[in-house]
Amino acid sequence: MSMNYCIVTYGCQMNLHESEKIAGVLRSVGYEKEVPQEEADIIVFNTCCIREHAENHAFGNIGALKKLKKQKKGLIIAVGGCMAQEQGKAQFLKQKFPFIDIIFGTHNIFELASLIERKKSEKRVVSLYDDRKEIEDGASPCRTSYPNAWVNITYGCNNFCTYCIVPYVRGREKSRSADLILEEVRALVAKGYKEITLLGQNVNSYRDGDVDFPELLDRVASVEGKFRVRFMTSHPKDFSEKLIAVIKKHDKILNLLHLPAQSGSSRILRLMNRRYTREEYLAKVRRFKEEIPGAEVTTDLIVAFPTETEEEFEETLSLVKEADFSSAFMFVYSPRTGTKAAEMAGRVDAETARSRITRLIAAVNENTRRKSEALVGQTVEVLCEDYDEKRGLYLGREPLGRMGYFACDRDRIGEFVTIKVTKANGVSLYGEICERA
Ligand code: 5AD
Ligand code: SF4
Repeated sequence: MSMNYCIVTYGCQMNLHESEKIAGVLRSVGYEKEVPQEEADIIVFNTCCIREHAENHAFGNIGALKKLKKQKKGLIIAVGGCMAQEQGKAQFLKQKFPFIDIIFGTHNIFELASLIERKKSEKRVVSLYDDRKEIEDGASPCRTSYPNAWVNITYGCNNFCTYCIVPYVRGREKSRSADLILEEVRALVAKGYKEITLLGQNVNSYRDGDVDFPELLDRVASVEGKFRVRFMTSHPKDFSEKLIAVIKKHDKILNLLHLPAQSGSSRILRLMNRRYTREEYLAKVRRFKEEIPGAEVTTDLIVAFPTETEEEFEETLSLVKEADFSSAFMFVYSPRTGTKAAEMAGRVDAETARSRITRLIAAVNENTRRKSEALVGQTVEVLCEDYDEKRGLYLGREPLGRMGYFACDRDRIGEFVTIKVTKANGVSLYGEICERA
């Protein structure tokens, strides 16, 4: 009888890609395909702990499995990802959910095969990340995002922004070898992948010997073939003229920069330990847009950081206008145990925080709407990535990140398709194919 798996992922693209690696490991030990939870022989939770909400969500879903675990003999439940790495969390998980079989850390994915083997003779197995160990890659990922492919270039983070738990759970920053990255990119392009996204908590501090991030990006974009190159995330303090020059040099590199600002107030930025001011941030955005006309910037923003005043929040609102973000991920500050900010006085009350996030979302949506509507009547090239059953339309992203929907009578997934935009709705565009199909 075949053995199948289910992976439940929380959090960011980094985690989505790690779930592809988990799937690769599971397949290498005989699990055949991804199925719904009730049909799975192993259920893996790939957790995130960056905000309390994501964590509570995972607790709820893990807790709900108690019944299934009782009913189904031999079902294995594994919990991995950032939350497993949080100090004291593995112990907490063991006590709260005694039916968990395996707990593994963010850098122990490739050990999962041996952990499953060990589980046969042990009640429960736990393996967490140890900063002294080198992380390297085992089984190849089972990719689910064709025609896009994620490629890790760094792991961990050294920045210690005061609100952020990532450096504690993912350890110090380590760069993968440039040769390995290039080998992976060449193989992906040869297999037909059309978009490569280089991933790291802060790609700009990548270094392998003499190869820094602009050099790596230059080499990746020099690989032969028609494909797009994207990267995330860039820390503004390290975003350099050298990088702008490389983006400008290659058509393959999208002119879309994800540059998390976090706040528009220099005082809050200092409290966040971001190491740039509002003015420095805006100067970098200006330089990028000056050098690359038509380029766009997206961002991450946090409201209600401890002691944030109404005026300081309004500086974030005005940053949205000045930097002219085309979209943003927006969050209410969430205290994380062990971080500096969690110890700070001056928590902003929940009602004020809610009102600020609502106003911020409205401001960003206004930019998004205006920019999308300006595209009506223009042609854009989308990379077709899926078919939407409900709408009966194919969809794909244009180079500046908006989703374009179009009708077509044959499968175009994995192809670049030029559409004429007829309608815009938020980040979504609707259009007609304007080329020979
Ligand atoms: N509270 C709210 N948002 C956070 N982020 C990181 N830590 C926190 C926190 N404690 C946001 C930042 C970061 C994104 C990935 O998540 O904006 O860029
Ligand atoms: Fe967290 Fe800051 Fe590192 Fe990003 S750069 S992962 S926000 S500590």
